[in-house]
Amino acid sequence: MIGRLNHVAIAVRDLDAATRLYRDTLGANVSNPDPLPEHGVTVVFVNLPNTKIELLEPLGEGSPIAKFLEKSTDGGIHHICYEVDDILAARDELIRKGARILGSGEPRTGAHGKPVLFLHPKDFNGTLVELEQA
Ligand code: CO
Repeated sequence: MIGRLNHVAIAVRDLDAATRLYRDTLGANVSNPDPLPEHGVTVVFVNLPNTKIELLEPLGEGSPIAKFLEKSTDGGIHHICYEVDDILAARDELIRKGARILGSGEPRTGAHGKPVLFLHPKDFNGTLVELEQA
């Protein structure tokens, strides 16, 4: 069902500092910040040869990563994203196999403008999993 690793998302407190870390210390190609108010985050993409890292900073009130950063004060890996060919078929198969989908269960438009779903971390070894229809 799952295909390529699309990205690993890391929650950060200070996006400018994290950008400098990846660009200057690690020598990676880093995009400009992209505010996504509908997702409650500002995102920067670190473009690696085989995948992407997304650095996420909270944006606005009630950001979905604010609580995460209260617990993980240094920041940390927030979720990983796998690509699927057909997100509705993947969802239905996962539900049939007993996995839980977060939220309404209907795909939302993710940071890349493509349909995404999140799977319950308790069903996946304590890891928040995002599925993106590539
Ligand atoms: Co993501």
